Amino acid sequence: MAAIVALLCTLIFSVYSLGDALSLNYYDKSCPQAEVAITKAVKKAIANDKTVSAALLRIHFHDCFVRGCDASVLLNSVGKNTAEKDGPPNISLHAFYVIDNAKKAVEALCPGVVSCADILALAARDAVTIAGGPNWEVPKGRKDGRVSKATETRSLPAPTFNISQLQQSFSQRGLSMNDLVALSGGHTLGFSHCSSFQNRIHNFSTKLDVDPTMSPSFAASLKSVCSSHNKVRNAGVTMDPSSRTFDNTYFKLLLQGKSLFSSDQSLLSAPKTKALVSKFASSQEAFGDAFVKSMIKMSSLNGGQEVRLDCKVVN
Ligand code: HEM
Ligand SMILES: *[C@@H]1O[C@H](CO)[C@@H](O)[C@H](O)[C@H]1NC(C)=O
Ligand SMILES: *[C@@H]1O[C@H](CO)[C@@H](O)[C@H](O)[C@H]1NC(C)=O
Ligand SMILES: *[C@@H]1O[C@H](CO)[C@@H](O)[C@H](O)[C@H]1NC(C)=O
Repeated sequence: MAAIVALLCTLIFSVYSLGDALSLNYYDKSCPQAEVAITKAVKKAIANDKTVSAALLRIHFHDCFVRGCDASVLLNSVGKNTAEKDGPPNISLHAFYVIDNAKKAVEALCPGVVSCADILALAARDAVTIAGGPNWEVPKGRKDGRVSKATETRSLPAPTFNISQLQQSFSQRGLSMNDLVALSGGHTLGFSHCSSFQNRIHNFSTKLDVDPTMSPSFAASLKSVCSSHNKVRNAGVTMDPSSRTFDNTYFKLLLQGKSLFSSDQSLLSAPKTKALVSKFASSQEAFGDAFVKSMIKMSSLNGGQEVRLDCKVVN
């Protein structure tokens, strides 16, 4: 009986957790130039287009939250199968070409060795570092998955989520409230469409038009960009005024009622997460350290089986 329980536990553990352990020196022998080539491709792309940093970080997050970090987010739809990237919350997922360019460079050096999931994890790290954020060593050895389904993107957290919904979404992936707060700091980079925070600035409740936890002046500025009819399809605002720099401005603004999403604001609704927000708002270093730890944790959720040759299609 005990043996069966132990076996079951092992099975469950290996299916749900890290799979094969990742390591820092995974490609030291098989492709020592890989990281340099990836960083070069990311640098080049960001030099041409500063919005690429945010895009790469978000793609990696979406990858890891659906089927683990297995590059399922990079697969194209085929035939009747609609892939994750064509699913509903794909709004603003872009810059996939950067991963394709990095993969081409790496394939030229060592064909069939470096997974797309590793390339994406490394590119997200590079994006953060190049934007002025912390640098860290990324454990490698992820495998690419063979399945990508648009319907599964429904399991991503929504911007309307409250703190208990966020906690559930993160804990289902083995991530803590600390990870939730630190990783939400990714919203120091990038852009949001009006649709993502519409709920807070028009018809918030039957009695109130605007979310009362939002700073009135901030709400007014958002309303001036985002009409109630969403006339301008691509309208939106940057995440924070320093949206191309990875810093702790997000947390400072959050404390002033100047965050975009209900999910951001809800980090203030539990004492534990609120205390972390205050800590990160007052110390860029504390935020950077926590972000690195949580990124390594998030990006270790694995799930794949193969090393894809083209990141857009299964082998
Ligand atoms: C906590 C749950 C999260 C929710 C509900 C959430 C939601 C969103 C939403 C709605 C957008 C704007 C999409 C648009 O309107 O274009 C966005 C953008 C973004 N998110 Fe999150 N997010 C979460 C966590 C994360 C995490 C963990 C990261 C990375 C560590 C991240 C990084 C980003 C980045 C960088 C952008 C900007 C993308 C761009 O400009 O291309 N988010 N997020
Ligand atoms: C997002 O999904 C829509 C369909 O839901 C699709 O038309 C669009 O091309 C997708 N965007 C990206 C960046 O893949
Ligand atoms: C969060 O939302 C869920 C679903 O609407 C609700 O059941 C729950 O009570 C809410 N939790 C908090 C803390 O507001
Ligand atoms: C807000 O609610 C009112 C009354 O239900 C409705 O007439 C109006 O169109 C709504 N506005 C938006 C932006 O949904």
